[in-house]
Amino acid sequence: RPIVILISGSGSNMAALVEAARHGRWAARFGAGVVAVVSNRPGAAGLAWAREQGLATAVVDHQQHADREAFDAALMAAIDAHRPALVLLAGFMRILTPGFVRHYEGRLLNIHPSLLPAFPGLKTHQRAIETGCRFAGATVHRVTAELDHGEYLEQAVVPVLPGDTPEALAARVLTQEHLIYPRAVERLLAAG
Ligand code: GRF
Repeated sequence: RPIVILISGSGSNMAALVEAARHGRWAARFGAGVVAVVSNRPGAAGLAWAREQGLATAVVDHQQHADREAFDAALMAAIDAHRPALVLLAGFMRILTPGFVRHYEGRLLNIHPSLLPAFPGLKTHQRAIETGCRFAGATVHRVTAELDHGEYLEQAVVPVLPGDTPEALAARVLTQEHLIYPRAVERLLAAG
């Protein structure tokens, strides 16, 4: 049961998932494992780490494709080469077409750095601070055609502290992301 992870940047969530698969013995317990990391950005730092771990990697550069549909088709081809049972968006910063989402319906997850349904979209930590929120957090959810709106699988909450900068809050949330994403995936694998 191959798992493919999509990243656009540092890939810290991807690394947390790879480590969890190893320490949680997902291969032995569920016949599942991370087999490939795919990025839309050639320079994504997470790609080098993934290669060092012996994972397959691929780059589908959105700047090399005429339109969103062409990009998504190339992305799907790179993903489907691994015949994934699960596709995990982890810091993947592209809006996907409904056709892409339909193709992976039921086996596509994302992690969003807010307590959905609050703050869908970007700059979630800055918005939480500006709004005066006392709490913030992250959400692991199934991906459906509507941005950041699929069924929630896990959430974590952190306090917003006086004087928090978006960077300080992001770091506090990220620590929790690295716990709830693996927990959500492991629960899905255990449930078959
Ligand atoms: C994280 O906050 C994640 O929630 C968001 O992208 C940020 C960076 O993720 N989607 P990563 O370090 O690349 O996993």
